[in-house]
Amino acid sequence: LNDSRGILEERGYCITSVVTALPYRSHGLASNLLRNVAQWLDGPGDAAVSILYSGGELPTFYDRLGWRVSSDSEVVLSSNTWLQNVQSVYTDIELRLLEDADIAELCLQDIEAFRAEAQHANATNEVARLTVLPTADLIRCQHANSDYIGDLWHGEAPQNRGSAYADEAWIYWCHDIRGRCLYIQHIHISIQDDTKRHDVVTALILSAFREAEIWNFTTLATWDLRLDTRLALETLARASAMNTTVRGIKREQKMSIRWRDDGEKTTSTVMGNETFAWNSRS
Ligand SMILES: CC(C)(COP(=O)(O)OP(=O)(O)OC[C@H]1O[C@@H](n2cnc3c(N)ncnc32)[C@H](O)[C@@H]1OP(=O)(O)O)[C@@H](O)C(=O)NCCC(=O)NCCS
Repeated sequence: LNDSRGILEERGYCITSVVTALPYRSHGLASNLLRNVAQWLDGPGDAAVSILYSGGELPTFYDRLGWRVSSDSEVVLSSNTWLQNVQSVYTDIELRLLEDADIAELCLQDIEAFRAEAQHANATNEVARLTVLPTADLIRCQHANSDYIGDLWHGEAPQNRGSAYADEAWIYWCHDIRGRCLYIQHIHISIQDDTKRHDVVTALILSAFREAEIWNFTTLATWDLRLDTRLALETLARASAMNTTVRGIKREQKMSIRWRDDGEKTTSTVMGNETFAWNSRS
């Protein structure tokens, strides 16, 4: 995280699911549980920050308990619509598919890139910036989850974890097999030239759509709407059968952030893609 104290790497937690069994709802169980979780986070858990992922109207419920909704949220794209008419474009950009063995090294480079980006960020104690670092453990944990469900349901685990353009740019993803959705975990791009950068990001995203198609998934999701990603998606939207702009797409899931020293920070912004810790619509 980056605030007026500078750049700090602190322990944090991601809460990915809160559920009360149907017959027991509206008796204060979830509120009570989360109040206890908050106490634990501030005490023995030693968490500077925690992120809670949720959908629909729920952020107001979590807000009352101290997890303030962040402006970032998930974008879900219907893969069939997006793939029409764009099958044969960007095929001149040579990508190689990523396997398990590639991931650890790329994660190390991504963590370095986040550290470098944080150095340039201008944050104060009121406006803190944070990211979850994409450690190989975290990324592989999501892959292990897809492998388990893939084996169970299809007798086959996903092999393709992403794609890369030389050593300048890459994307990695994970398969939400139950939700039939391919999640973009992270896009890394270190190409200076604007046109080339745009074409490569577009090709990387297109490779994700193709992977979604291989698995017969209906959707592709991302939480990453940095300028490069947004421009690439706009290009694909124009080339495909989409009749909306990326801004017009309903953003569904939300993340809410709770700081240990809540009250001092009024706003939190999140750097990069934050689905390293959460990846399931099902
Ligand atoms: C959200 C959930 C965990 C709340 O559990 P709970 O034990 O009933 O919670 P509490 O009794 O402490 O608080 C209930 C309050 O939650 C809020 N709430 C519950 N569901 C809500 C919804 N769909 N939209 C908005 N607010 C909701 C309401 O303010 C509700 O108050 P009310 O009972 O007076 O209407 C439970 O409804 C649930 O399991 N929902 C389905 C799973 C889910 O959507 N989880 C969130 C994904 S992370």
